[in-house]
Formats: sequence, structure tokens, C-alpha cells
Amino acid sequence: MMRLDKYLVSMQVGSRSEIKDFCKKGLITVNGAVCKQSDTKIDEDKDEITFKGKVLSYEKYRYYMLHKPAGVVTATKDHHDKTVLDLLVGVNTKDLSPAGRLDKDTEGLLLLTNDGELIHNLLSPKKHVDKTYYIKARETLNPEDINALENGVDIGEDTLTLPAKVTLLGEKEFLLTIHEGKFHQVKRMLLAVNNEVLYLKRMSFGSLTLDENLAPGEFRALREQEIKELKMRKNNGFR
Ligand code: URA
Repeated sequence: MMRLDKYLVSMQVGSRSEIKDFCKKGLITVNGAVCKQSDTKIDEDKDEITFKGKVLSYEKYRYYMLHKPAGVVTATKDHHDKTVLDLLVGVNTKDLSPAGRLDKDTEGLLLLTNDGELIHNLLSPKKHVDKTYYIKARETLNPEDINALENGVDIGEDTLTLPAKVTLLGEKEFLLTIHEGKFHQVKRMLLAVNNEVLYLKRMSFGSLTLDENLAPGEFRALREQEIKELKMRKNNGFR
């Protein structure tokens, strides 16, 4: 149960005071009856609410896939830079958070949701959710570098990095799948083998793959099946 005005604010019908006004004007109905009191308690899962004759449906949880462009920070608010939330134009961004963080200059897949439990599960170090990055590097990877990256390198933490997977695509281009998410992890792993990341793009996150139809800066809602798979953690571990 929740207050009608709170529900309508979350549906972006208007501010709390505008909603009070809409109620007084008889523009809102609950289960077919005009509701003049904006503090009425409603059951958001069962009651049918209309505004100006249109039925509103409540989505408790919202899930979006963003193709993060470079130059945008993974934050919900920032005084200087554009944030990933600023890119979700036309969306109810209330309580949305990014699942993890991409650096300002990193592009690619970012999941944003208000499902805190899912974020917690995906980011928990114990869960080892795979993240695959496309990398353009300064130097060619030699077999020893690949071996080191795959078996663990020293990035200045207490322990070596966990097993990872390298898939070569070209001389200085490759995919790296890791299942940790330490600060600047990929960049630090490349530095550990005397190399450098020149371009970084996240291609997948757990069972979720970046939609190739999304240009940098574009986003879409997740499909039911994608949400289900993330929750089941299907394909969220490569070993
Ligand atoms: N590793 C990095 O170094 N940067 C990112 O943005 C993501 C992973």
C-alpha cells in the first residue's frame, strides 16, 4: 500500500502539489471512482488508477541498458560532468543507480536499475559475475602477457588478480573477461604487463550483452528474458 500522491509522483504525473490539484479537479480515479483526496492509500499492484482517463501502470522495478559514451561519469549527480542518468531522457530516473562503475573515458554496457537487490547480487565479490571488455592496447600482447593476465597479475592489491580470459582479435586488440571489479582494474592489469589501455569498452556484464543497435549515448529498457537471466545468474561465470 502507498499514498496516491507518492505513486503519482513516481509515475511522473506531476509534483505532489500539482497532484493535489488534479485530485480536486476530479482528474484522477481509483478503481473507477473519482478520488479527490491525494493522500488516499492505494494498492499499487492491484488498484486501477487513471489520470485524465488514461490507465497508469506501476512498475516497481525498472531496468535499463545504456551504451555509455566516453566523457560521461558513472554517477547519479555531478557538479561538472554529464552523468549517465542525464542520458536517460524521458525516463523516470528516481532511485535508479548504475550497477557498478565505468571510468569517464570507458564506453559500453552499463545497467541502471532501482532493483537494489539485483545490483548487490551482481556486484558482490563472492558472485564472480563475468565482465567482458574490448581493449585496444598500446603494445601487442605476447604469450607470456596472455598467460600472466589469465593467471593473475600484481595490481598492487593484497592478492593477484583472479583468473581471467583473453581472446585475441588482432595484434593490439583483444577481449578480456574478468570476474572482479576493482577500481581501474583492466587498466591496472594492462599496466602490470607493461602495456596500456588506449580504448576500453564493456561488451557484456553477466548474462547481459551490449545491444549492437544502441549507439553510444542510447539506451533501452531490458527485455523480460534479460531480466530473468540476470536474476538467475545464467552464464554469469566462465569457469
Ligand atoms: N576497468 C577499468 O580500468 N576501467 C573501467 O571503466 C572498467 C574496468
